[in-house]
Amino acid sequence: MTYQGQFRVWRGDQDGGELQDYTVEVNEGEVVLDIIHRLQATQAPDLAVRWNCKAGKCGSCSAEVNGRPRLLCMTRMSTFTETDLITVTPLRAFPVEKDLVTDVSFNYTKAREVPSFTPPADLRPGEYRMQQIDVERSQEFRKCIECFLCQNTCHVVRDHDENKPAFAGPRYLMRIAELDMHPLDVADRRDAAQDEFGLGYCNITKCCTEVCPEHIKITDNALIPMKERVADRKYDPLVWLGNKLFRR
Ligand code: SF4
Ligand code: SF4
Ligand code: FES
Repeated sequence: MTYQGQFRVWRGDQDGGELQDYTVEVNEGEVVLDIIHRLQATQAPDLAVRWNCKAGKCGSCSAEVNGRPRLLCMTRMSTFTETDLITVTPLRAFPVEKDLVTDVSFNYTKAREVPSFTPPADLRPGEYRMQQIDVERSQEFRKCIECFLCQNTCHVVRDHDENKPAFAGPRYLMRIAELDMHPLDVADRRDAAQDEFGLGYCNITKCCTEVCPEHIKITDNALIPMKERVADRKYDPLVWLGNKLFRR
């Protein structure tokens, strides 16, 4: 089954741009990335798009399809009808480089700001066995492919560049929560999450969770438990005293 599909693709760069209409052949079994590649091959050889694996695993092909943050390689054409007009635009929360390619360096900056795993200084290799339950707790978060769809969706930064310095975004708050759950990590993740990485900006709307292609329950399993632990630290006098006396 082949038909001529109607597409509207954003073309431009840092200086501005516009949506342009194209008619492109669609074949059975294809995804939106196939269409973008056919558009490049037949009508728009200078169209910029970032991709690598075409298997939903590298996190490169993030863009917006009909206004929804999606991986282009995992968005099946069969989810649209033959007469649908399909709009493909770059991620909105990050500056455009060219066409569908955005500058996602905000995310790398935030990643570098999160202190890495910090075991006790006197612990030597082989001295500690991790329990399976502790391994499993963080396993879900390790599925992240760094597509930044959650970062792009979060309303705290989506239309508010001014919040970016104070807010790490769901992907990196999840990383902090993962480290805070680690039984050997001794860094003070809770105060840092609140004071340096903007956990308080998150009002648990779950929009980040909805767009995650790895189906990680970012809000329920990372952000809400982290908020609870921060609240315990701040408002429970016994927890506060215990933390003062026994650190973890
Ligand atoms: S749950 Fe929090 S981090 Fe996720 S989109 Fe909503 S405000 Fe942003
Ligand atoms: S948490 Fe999900 S949406 Fe966010 S960067 Fe990782 S894989 Fe992408
Ligand atoms: S090309 Fe790798 S996730 Fe889409």
